[in-house]
Amino acid sequence: MGVSGCGKSTIGNLLSKELDIPFFDGDDFHPESNITKMSNGKALNDDDRQGWLETLNHLAKKQLTKNSCVIVCSALKQKYRDILSQDIHKQTKWIYLSGTFEQIYERMNSRSDHFMPSKLLKSQFDTLEEPKDAMQIDISLSPKNIIKTIKNELMNTSEFGLFGLGVMGKSLCRNLANNGFKISMFNRHVDGVEENIAKNFKAQHSELSQAEAFDDIAGFVNSLQQPRRIMLMVNAGKTIDYVIEDLLPHLSENDIIIDGGNSNYKKTKERFDYLKTKGIHFIGTGVSGGEEGALKGPSIMPSGDKDAYSKVAPFLETIAAKDKNGLPCCTYVGPEGSGQFIKMVHNGVEYVEMQLLAEVATILKALGQNPNEIANTLDSWKDNASSYLLEITTAIFKKKEGDDWLVNKILDKAGNKGTGNWTTIASAELGVPNTLIASALFSRYISFYKEERIQLNESFKKENTSQLNITTNEVLEAYQFARIINHYQGFKLIAEASNKFEWNLNLSEIARIWTNGCIIRSTLMEELVNIFKDTTNILTNTQLIAIVNQYKPAAKKVVSQCILNDITSPALAEAIQFFNGITTAYASANIIQAQRDYFGAHTYQRLDDTSGKSYHTNWN
Ligand code: 6PG
Repeated sequence: MGVSGCGKSTIGNLLSKELDIPFFDGDDFHPESNITKMSNGKALNDDDRQGWLETLNHLAKKQLTKNSCVIVCSALKQKYRDILSQDIHKQTKWIYLSGTFEQIYERMNSRSDHFMPSKLLKSQFDTLEEPKDAMQIDISLSPKNIIKTIKNELMNTSEFGLFGLGVMGKSLCRNLANNGFKISMFNRHVDGVEENIAKNFKAQHSELSQAEAFDDIAGFVNSLQQPRRIMLMVNAGKTIDYVIEDLLPHLSENDIIIDGGNSNYKKTKERFDYLKTKGIHFIGTGVSGGEEGALKGPSIMPSGDKDAYSKVAPFLETIAAKDKNGLPCCTYVGPEGSGQFIKMVHNGVEYVEMQLLAEVATILKALGQNPNEIANTLDSWKDNASSYLLEITTAIFKKKEGDDWLVNKILDKAGNKGTGNWTTIASAELGVPNTLIASALFSRYISFYKEERIQLNESFKKENTSQLNITTNEVLEAYQFARIINHYQGFKLIAEASNKFEWNLNLSEIARIWTNGCIIRSTLMEELVNIFKDTTNILTNTQLIAIVNQYKPAAKKVVSQCILNDITSPALAEAIQFFNGITTAYASANIIQAQRDYFGAHTYQRLDDTSGKSYHTNWN
């Protein structure tokens, strides 16, 4: 509100754009009779204004049922403002653009297209009853600063909401706050179990002094600027759906929910479609890096609709890790659940990298190295095979508890939260031979049969490994060979999914956001960023062809030595088996086809007929 010429329309328009809510100019809502009167040069009286102000009041109420809006109106008298905010006093926020008579008079007359008679402006000032409950803005500020002031002071709301204060949620809150964002944090209240989680967390960290802490959903949602940006960091699975239902009654059109958990990509699409019917945007995003990554800079893999992403990008890209060139390890991945899909594959690749290191360490142990020596060997590989997982595995082998190494005291049953399982299922569904991921996953499953393993170990004695005839350098080369195959398979799965679902994913960009912050960051990943600029198949790259050829003899030797000495090395072995398969020009599948045709008349095609015609033989 404010007198004619104070800049209401300009500021109202800008503000509505900034807040992404509709804009209405009160002057556009006059009834025909008022327009006729004004165009005849007559001033409106209060009776003329009554209906018009009521119309604007109805408009405001209607908008509030959907979201909110900006309405500009001179609203010079208190009684006009009372009509305008009737029944919606609490939701109405008055902004008074104030300036002196001289200021506005000069401003109006300096505009070539506008001349305001001083009499008219004076009558406006005479009528004006300055509001007491409004936020008063000095119009000599630049429009940009006016908008900023309004947003900061009047709205006094948070820019970003974090729902769920588990390990990752907490770290992300601190990361956002450390980057200067005003955030609201929520954790549910469960009597006697989860009480005052958000408030206690805020009290523990000085960087959270400006953050708002809640354990009631309504308070949390209402504390957020619109369109609201709410990131869920809760357990993947059904919980996400429950949380969405809890949030929905409090949300407004165009609000954005971001799921930062390891959700299934198909579920993400379902949730995206469901929320679309409610006018809410849904962004499924992979977040990798564990607790430390989330705090200092994770790799972030968001997907969904691009416009909604642009509204959360400033937050996600600021808190993300940065690559070698200082660019954020966060990019819009693609539509639907593609972000969750690539995070799932990331985890599959992670399973294999972890399994390979476990196998390698087992081989080094069989070569007689103690944990300290294993750590030294792994440490010496940094120059050739640097990766985050190599680094942490080195540290793990150094860690002592009392006189013994901690790693020797850990029960040999590997846990999993399901993403490796999904990657294997997705590979099978898409027909992609992702054998290493399956192998790493099933190795974890085998580990779970601890009692049976102990029992069978009694019946089937193992070779003594003293005959193991390999060097540590050969182990390194076999490891490097298998890692290349692992990355080939992981990205192949992404490429195939991209084709099938028409996601149009950029493999180079995906590799780039995995060069820092995430669990599978490595120098190999850095090399892949460039390689994927020219090809979607890394085994066609001249440099990698040479490296694979160089490492293959060691891979063969290490795997065969492992087999001869009864050392379990499924991922290393699968790497060489897969490689032999994918590089064999004439495979054994002709025999499979003949068998299928023999017992089921499934037919086969012939090498000497390229038309694709199907043949059947009576094999008897
Ligand atoms: C990451 C990790 C993270 C988590 C996995 C562990 O990228 O930060 O992958 O997502 O550690 O969920 O998965 P498992 O429990 O299945 O090993």
